[in-house]
Amino acid sequence: MKKINLVLFGTGNVGSKLVHQVLQARKILQEKEGLEINIPVIANSTIAFFQKENQQPSWETDLEKFGFPYKLNDILEYVRQQNYENLIAVDATASEEFVDHYFSLIESGFHIVAANKVANTRSSQFYLELRKKLREHHKFFFYETNVGAGLPIVETLRSFHRSNERVTKVRGVFSGSLSYIFNTYCAEEKAFSEVLSEAGVKGFTEPDPRVDLSGKDVARKLLILGRELGLEKEFEEITIQDLVPPHLNGQSTLKNFHEKKKDLDPIFLKLKKELKQDEVIRHVGELDLQTGILDVKLVTEKRTSALGSLQNADSSFEIFTESYGEQPLVIKGAGAGAAVTARGVLTDLIKLAEKLPS
Ligand SMILES: NC(=O)c1ccc[n+]([C@@H]2O[C@H](COP(=O)([O-])OP(=O)(O)OC[C@H]3O[C@@H](n4cnc5c(N)ncnc54)[C@H](OP(=O)(O)O)[C@@H]3O)[C@@H](O)[C@H]2O)c1
Repeated sequence: MKKINLVLFGTGNVGSKLVHQVLQARKILQEKEGLEINIPVIANSTIAFFQKENQQPSWETDLEKFGFPYKLNDILEYVRQQNYENLIAVDATASEEFVDHYFSLIESGFHIVAANKVANTRSSQFYLELRKKLREHHKFFFYETNVGAGLPIVETLRSFHRSNERVTKVRGVFSGSLSYIFNTYCAEEKAFSEVLSEAGVKGFTEPDPRVDLSGKDVARKLLILGRELGLEKEFEEITIQDLVPPHLNGQSTLKNFHEKKKDLDPIFLKLKKELKQDEVIRHVGELDLQTGILDVKLVTEKRTSALGSLQNADSSFEIFTESYGEQPLVIKGAGAGAAVTARGVLTDLIKLAEKLPS
């Protein structure tokens, strides 16, 4: 039986779903894949819980009851003493600082699986240094969920790139929250601010919806895909249409934004009125490999097109390559959500395990 040992950082939406999915899939993975997944350490930003083997079912209560404040070195020392094989650090945080630990983790024998996008969107210098460190220590780094949650976008692009299939363009609705907002706004007679509030209530937007409206999250995803295809770009080089008007952005508080979000209504109503009957507004990311331009913007689409016919909070990615010609390969589906993201992380873990020794 092959064993992998996870140290899970982050017990929020994705991390907690992942533990449940691992526990649920455990028996079947042992029987069908000959793979045993253990999670000896679970940590959030302040406390860590060290588990005894096969004692996961009550982990949420145990984390609260028996978890204690920790430093990364405590965990590194613990796994060293326990002599765990096939160690994998799972980054289910959204933390900028946690990524600084990647180098220590790799040096201490960890592979990394990340839902967190930060490591892949820092400077090119960091991006390359991380890969150098991984190579030096013969470690793997999987991050399929960085773009499109559980949808196989990174893997598909990487496969094209490796097989020398020239990808010319990637275009799509990258954000589940912005997908929901514009799909609903264009289909219903509601004010933009009302749709925005609904999206918040349904849990599609970040607590501060300006994070979504700023377009930065989509830009990060574009950068990750561009780099996957060998494009050397920095975040600052991406053209981003910020949907938040200047007086509600920057210095203004979230409370102020919510009080004045009706100011957005005339802006988007004007755009809606300019549409032809068979058109809708969509928020897209576009990566042009021929010009090297990365663009995040609102566009007008035919209702019947792949992007125009999107529903709910679905994402859709169109990949144009030499062999696919004018007709892109389209990958479409839920591009956000804790369950699909955790499943994507679990898939990464299983793929990584295939590369590790028994
Ligand atoms: N949700 C989605 O649909 C989706 C899709 C694709 C990718 N992702 C990515 O998945 C990641 C997790 O998302 P989420 O929705 O689960 O976030 P979340 O609910 O906010 O959970 C974040 C978790 O990370 C922990 N954390 C923060 N800093 C940490 C640190 N330095 N060390 C250890 N743990 C730390 C937090 O602990 P505390 O509670 O102690 O602060 C919390 O448990 C994010 O990077 C997100 O962008 C999410």
